[in-house]
Amino acid sequence: MKFFIDTAIIDEIKEVSEWGIIDGVTTNPSLIAKNGGTLLEVIQEITKLIDGPISAEVKEGLAKDMINEAKIYAKLHKNIVVKIPMTLEGIKAVKVLSKEGIKTNVTLVFNTTQALAAAKAGATYVSPFMGRLDDITPGTGVFLVEDIVTLFSMYGFDTKVIAASIRNVEHVHQAAMAGSDIATIPFKVLKEMLTHPLTTKGLQIFADAAKK
Ligand code: E4P
Repeated sequence: MKFFIDTAIIDEIKEVSEWGIIDGVTTNPSLIAKNGGTLLEVIQEITKLIDGPISAEVKEGLAKDMINEAKIYAKLHKNIVVKIPMTLEGIKAVKVLSKEGIKTNVTLVFNTTQALAAAKAGATYVSPFMGRLDDITPGTGVFLVEDIVTLFSMYGFDTKVIAASIRNVEHVHQAAMAGSDIATIPFKVLKEMLTHPLTTKGLQIFADAAKK
């Protein structure tokens, strides 16, 4: 499973770029607002740090407006993936953009029919939101990811699944077990993934032994 970082904070991206295990970046309007700077500025900066897919989200609206905005982002760099909200207009936009070879990530996916529609329209990625689904029906986020993975394989769609809205290490584990192609993970959770209390304790035991 690939790891993307779910952030627009440049310092976080700089730090994880040195770890060597991050395959891409997803941003959204809330994350861009946290960093400060315009979306274009932030995205351009990210392209210098990570050589992998970088999602930049358009404003929700009519298909024609989203297509125009998508084309501006797609021109910035070869790695740009345009994030399109899961609406009827969004699906129309994805259909046009995919025909033009522009990569898309359909976001705010909460059921399998939305995911199938996005895949049929030619989406490169779909993003089921595990955490937000768990907020309203605890424990169901993982089943959504699992079902989408199964359906895409059953019907031969190339669309990749990005497990999104990840809140904790358990979500990453669940996404991996469900066969998600990618998990997009906040910085804090990425750091937590690398730790375990017994690793810390074991290091202390070795350090004490070394002193003797
Ligand atoms: C995905 O691409 C989104 O940016 C993100 O995962 C949303 O997560 P949230 O529910 O924590 O806002």
